[in-house]
Amino acid sequence: MLYPVIWKNDSVVLIDQTRLPNEYAVIEVHRSQDMAEAIRTMIVRGAPAIGVAAAYGMYLGAREIKTNNRLEFLHDLEGVAQLLRSTRPTAVNLFWAIGRMMQIAYETLGNIEEIKQNLLETAEKIRAEDLETCQLIGDNGLKVLPKTPEKLIILTHCNAGALATAGYGTALGVVRSAWKEGRLSRVFADETRPRLQGAKLTAWECVQEGIPVTVIADNMAAHCMKQGLIDAVVVGADRIAANGDTANKIGTYNLAIVAKSHNVPFFVAAPVSTIDFTLDSGDKIPIEERHPSEIYQLGDSMLTPLGVEFYNPAFDVTPAELITAIITENGAFAPHELPTP
Ligand code: MRU
Repeated sequence: MLYPVIWKNDSVVLIDQTRLPNEYAVIEVHRSQDMAEAIRTMIVRGAPAIGVAAAYGMYLGAREIKTNNRLEFLHDLEGVAQLLRSTRPTAVNLFWAIGRMMQIAYETLGNIEEIKQNLLETAEKIRAEDLETCQLIGDNGLKVLPKTPEKLIILTHCNAGALATAGYGTALGVVRSAWKEGRLSRVFADETRPRLQGAKLTAWECVQEGIPVTVIADNMAAHCMKQGLIDAVVVGADRIAANGDTANKIGTYNLAIVAKSHNVPFFVAAPVSTIDFTLDSGDKIPIEERHPSEIYQLGDSMLTPLGVEFYNPAFDVTPAELITAIITENGAFAPHELPTP
């Protein structure tokens, strides 16, 4: 199993996802500032994985604080939380994990060393829980996948795999569980412009596990569905509003429309921590905009002429009515019937 974020020898070890699939490399992160940079630059990415990384980042920040005064400590820790929150705006797991870490800090009554110890233990817990959650999502997904054909072809977008979580994955967790149970024939992976997480990361993960995978360009999904090649779509999520509207990687919304018009079931797989019950609609989900070079540059080559403008939203919001079911660790739900915590 792949573990993109682990705690080892007093530092956080991240798989450098910007180098895959050409090179498998890990980096050691010792400081909260470096963790913020790793999240911003997408060395670590995917909603649950950045939540786990941020939790460890909070501990790294806590151990950098030298005071013995509790109030000063909590004030400085708020600064660390702010730094980590400022990295990426859309995935709610980041804010959820940081919130949980701050709560532990406030609730620990002992001395500063005890607070620091509790923070490390909580980060470890967040990681372990995510791993378990993903396995449950995978197994719950199996219960709602179409019963026929016996071996399914599942299309996914971006990377919602082990690399995007503590391990196992959400959408790819469903794929893994289906593969283990003999219910999967093959994965189709949208390449996922502009950063190509599908072509680079999802395809790489599938190859590691011997899961047959076909990479397609994003604009081929409708054609594949028309040909009857796709039995179900399963994607991950970065933030789900209380009404079931779901933010995920840009292009997910297109895919949901295409799936609807071909009667292909469209599933979202995500932990409950991805549901933001404070937002009543997807319109309120903040959408990250990234640097235009992700569109105009490929390696060292320029893809466009000079003098054009760019718009590079990293996520879009799929309306709830296009989603067949949201698969969580607690079961699969119709998007408008999400159970409140
Ligand atoms: O920009 P990224 O690569 O962090 O976006 C990732 C996605 O959109 C994933 O589908 C989502 O975070 C779910 S990961 C289990």
